[in-house]
Amino acid sequence: MGEYEEIFRASVADRERFWLDAAGALDWHRAPSQALDDSRPPFYRWFPDGELNVCHNALDRHCGAGHGSRAALIHDSPVTGVKTTYTYDQLRDEVAVFAGVLRDAGVSAGDRVVIYMPMVPEAAVAMLACARLGAVHSVVFGGFAAKELAVRIDDASPAVVVSASCGIEGSRVIEYKPLLDQAIEMASHKPTCQIILQRRQAEAAMGPTDVDWAQACAAASPADPVTVRSTDPLYVLYTSGTTGKPKGVVRDSGGYATALAWSMTNVYDVGPGQTLFTASDVGWVVGHSYIVYAPLLAGATTVLYEGKPVGTPDAGQFWRVASEYGVRSMFTAPTAFRALKKEDPDGELARQYDLSSLKYLFLAGERLDPETYRWASELLDIPVIDHWWQTETGWPIVANPAGIELLPVKPGSPTKPLPGWDIQVLDGDGKQVPPGTNGAIVAKLPMPPGALPTLWNDDDRFVQSYMSAFDGYYLTGDGGYLDEDGYLFVMGRTDDVINVAGHRLSTGGMEEALAGHPDVAECAVIGVADEMKGQVPRGFVVLKSGVDATRDGYEEQLRQELVQLVRDQVGAVASLKDVAVVAALPKTRSGKILRKSMRSIADGTDEPVPSTIDDASVLEALRPTLRKQ
Ligand code: COA
Ligand code: AMP
Repeated sequence: MGEYEEIFRASVADRERFWLDAAGALDWHRAPSQALDDSRPPFYRWFPDGELNVCHNALDRHCGAGHGSRAALIHDSPVTGVKTTYTYDQLRDEVAVFAGVLRDAGVSAGDRVVIYMPMVPEAAVAMLACARLGAVHSVVFGGFAAKELAVRIDDASPAVVVSASCGIEGSRVIEYKPLLDQAIEMASHKPTCQIILQRRQAEAAMGPTDVDWAQACAAASPADPVTVRSTDPLYVLYTSGTTGKPKGVVRDSGGYATALAWSMTNVYDVGPGQTLFTASDVGWVVGHSYIVYAPLLAGATTVLYEGKPVGTPDAGQFWRVASEYGVRSMFTAPTAFRALKKEDPDGELARQYDLSSLKYLFLAGERLDPETYRWASELLDIPVIDHWWQTETGWPIVANPAGIELLPVKPGSPTKPLPGWDIQVLDGDGKQVPPGTNGAIVAKLPMPPGALPTLWNDDDRFVQSYMSAFDGYYLTGDGGYLDEDGYLFVMGRTDDVINVAGHRLSTGGMEEALAGHPDVAECAVIGVADEMKGQVPRGFVVLKSGVDATRDGYEEQLRQELVQLVRDQVGAVASLKDVAVVAALPKTRSGKILRKSMRSIADGTDEPVPSTIDDASVLEALRPTLRKQ
């Protein structure tokens, strides 16, 4: 039996022991006597009597152990020409002072703080400062528009919002403050104040409830870590569901910290003093887990990179970062590698740097296509590790556990489930399908520590979205199959969630924006395959009767208005560039739009059309439009 098998079996044979041992990697104010509280399924709680502070574990613990002079966080920003290294001592001090600022602003344990920031170290400082106070942060990705931010402010009802005057997207400066002002205007909930980091690329005009980050820090005294229960929320991270209303994924404190610490050693193979470079954004779960919390919990060095894989200024920046900071493991989305491959197909830029420290490349966030896998493997000549997980799970579900042993790779599969995950594939009746057969990928309950205990303020939606399709199982929303050797193949979402350049988006949200146009009677948005971004959305609208799209240039104007609507309401990151005006949308007899059939025609897979279709001629009429790329 290989080491992976042994460890996996240990996690099944004695779950309590396995996770209590893993929790031993942390400092507890009160050590847990029990791993899992399973008294109220499907609401599981980890380390119910444990007490700790996650910020203490991420920072103070290492300083106290004599490692305060080690590099904790490196901000590398080719878009501003800045490179800054924070040691553990320095980061602890900055976080403690900003926690003091939040405390002075009235934030205490359990209060929410919304963070809307670009990739600056202060974003991580703000997150960790919340954790220090036991406050609950909710980071909103900078690429979301004001309306999306407003929806999250209303749901999280934060005491304070932390933001910056601007972000830099390639060569463009994006002003964040006007978006924040609009969002607060739109939201019913009003925070007591906004703390704004002024950046010299575009200083923000300050209003009466705005507080300047630097001035507030100069006036504050540091705050000590506040002990919380293991089961208390560390953060809420909104993610796209099938409707326009995002789901507030709750993350607990002790379970999450335990799972992350375990994964750093056993999956990413990065330990104290070693460097992890995760090229993502703090607004996504990948950024929460593997830019901020996990590397710091492990006493490692994290690189917070403010730039793109290409164009800032070239496709050699990932390699520069890897060589400059002696990166051991690197993690990004396959789409970033497709962008690199397009710019530098022969890998000439990669060869200009010494990449001898780089031991692994981890890819996740979307399906890793075999060609990108091949290109990256040949270019780097190191293990390229596809791994599968979700905002909801907080850490990988299925991964080649590099820190334990490298399993043989089957391209197209992220390999096998990690300890704690009982992954099964079910048919529509909830029965396990034979190996090689497609079905719904589910996790048998309970899930391991780190996975969501519920949705913010919405236990009912938690149960209805994830726990009610199959009793006793968490529905992942992904479809796929397990092969004879227990390797999982993830084939894509079975719902209306799409993945655009590794960004998870809801077609429902885009449909809501399109439907808001006065001339639109009904609409559908589907995700279609895209060579670079994996998927991109395409919109189809039916106009209200009496609206004549053929009149002088109106159709083109309408298309532009619709594209702009989605940009304004969802955000540029939605990348909806293509909207077609059509006569009708194909539906079932009960009136449900056949998005799946539309998608399969657009992608050229032409799956069988359901027998419940109302009028097959509508789909036929749409076929040429769908086929057009
Ligand atoms: N703030 C403001 N706007 C943002 C933004 C942010 N934080 N992030 C993206 N945008 C904007 C972009 O400027 C772009 O606007 P445009 O349509 O006006 O050009 C739009 O949103 C789409 O951005 P993006 O999806 O990043 O596409 P791109 O063409 O600029 O770059 C890649 C393509 C592949 C280089 C880029 O998507 C990438 O680096 N992806 C990595 C994926 C990743 O980190 N995923 C996280 C999960 S691991
Ligand atoms: P997010 O919640 O943003 O992390 O997105 C999670 C979704 O991304 C999953 O449900 C999958 O659809 C997709 N995904 C993530 N990693 C992979 C992977 N390695 N292979 C295939 N799909 C993936």
